[in-house]
Amino acid sequence: MSTMRAWQVAAKGEGAQLREVEVPAVGAGQARVRVEASSLNFKDALAVTGKGRIMRNFPCIAGIDLAGTVEESQDPNWPAGTPVLLTGCNIGEQFDGGLAEQAVVDAGSLVRRPEGVDALQAMRYGTAGFTAGLAVQRMRDNGQEPDQGPIAVTGASGGVGSVAIALLSKLGYSPVAVSSKSDQADYLRALGASDIVNARDYPAAEAPLLKARWGGVVDNVGGTLLATLIAETRPWGNVASIGLAASHKLETTVMPFILRGVNLLGIHSVETPMPRRQSVWDALFGDWQVDSSLWQREVIGLEQVGEACATLMAGGITGRYVVDCTR
Ligand SMILES: NC(=O)c1ccc[n+]([C@@H]2O[C@H](COP(=O)([O-])OP(=O)(O)OC[C@H]3O[C@@H](n4cnc5c(N)ncnc54)[C@H](OP(=O)(O)O)[C@@H]3O)[C@@H](O)[C@H]2O)c1
Repeated sequence: MSTMRAWQVAAKGEGAQLREVEVPAVGAGQARVRVEASSLNFKDALAVTGKGRIMRNFPCIAGIDLAGTVEESQDPNWPAGTPVLLTGCNIGEQFDGGLAEQAVVDAGSLVRRPEGVDALQAMRYGTAGFTAGLAVQRMRDNGQEPDQGPIAVTGASGGVGSVAIALLSKLGYSPVAVSSKSDQADYLRALGASDIVNARDYPAAEAPLLKARWGGVVDNVGGTLLATLIAETRPWGNVASIGLAASHKLETTVMPFILRGVNLLGIHSVETPMPRRQSVWDALFGDWQVDSSLWQREVIGLEQVGEACATLMAGGITGRYVVDCTR
């Protein structure tokens, strides 16, 4: 039995450690991927530091996304040599994840990595980029047009927010960064933000409907900020609810929905059906392509994952860490 390095959580309540573990056997319907890259997401930081209850199975290898090449397979659709990526599908939570040199996964959860896109490039997007793409796609499917007005993007300097700003700008929308970091204006404008609003100064909604200023919203923080933005959304606008960086609570009224036709779209990247998953990735690497180096923070090796996760948990950083799992 061969071994590999992996960030494994051994038991409930513990953080992850970089350990030498056995490479699991490949069962029916599974594939073994040589992991070339992964990325660090908020959930990974919670799992690795042990500060959040992310894992549902023990022991479990952390990492909610990966990109690499199939080396061994029990599924004829995914032969050895196929370049792949995988986000969500409960890896790094219920099943072994991507912060490792190899991963044995359900072959049905794999996405073909397009020709010319290497694993590190794919993981510049990773789960955050896929989620931003999913939100933008769902808003467009629901009729969001640039002339409806600017799109507020909260948690703007984070992974999802950064990619959402770049995508919206590329697609002709006018994204406005709603950020708590007053020193990140240059970064946010370089991504494509047309304006920047200080999230800390944002007032809590005092009425069910406020002056309508947003064509739509991409929200990563939840709580009172989301409630206010919903009350400020113009007729027929789409509000994509993605995250809970501030709060999982949402206190609102039905007024924006029944008097302005505002739509609240739930974004769930983990179990996105495969056809939609593939279409988001095709768009990200096709017509929607943007300069992904803009939001890449640093490429780190497996050894540096613990320190980077602690930095992520401490907050205050911008962009995304990409992990080169071959070093
Ligand atoms: N629904 C899904 O499928 C899905 C997928 C991926 C992520 N998520 C969730 O989406 C959110 C964003 O993910 P991410 O990867 O972009 O995380 P991230 O890189 O950690 O960024 C989160 C951003 O939110 C803002 N923020 C952080 N703490 C905050 C607080 N206490 N109050 C208000 N704002 C705060 C900060 O932006 P500013 O300083 O610029 O305001 C921060 O950069 C997380 O809650 C994550 O769990 C959901």
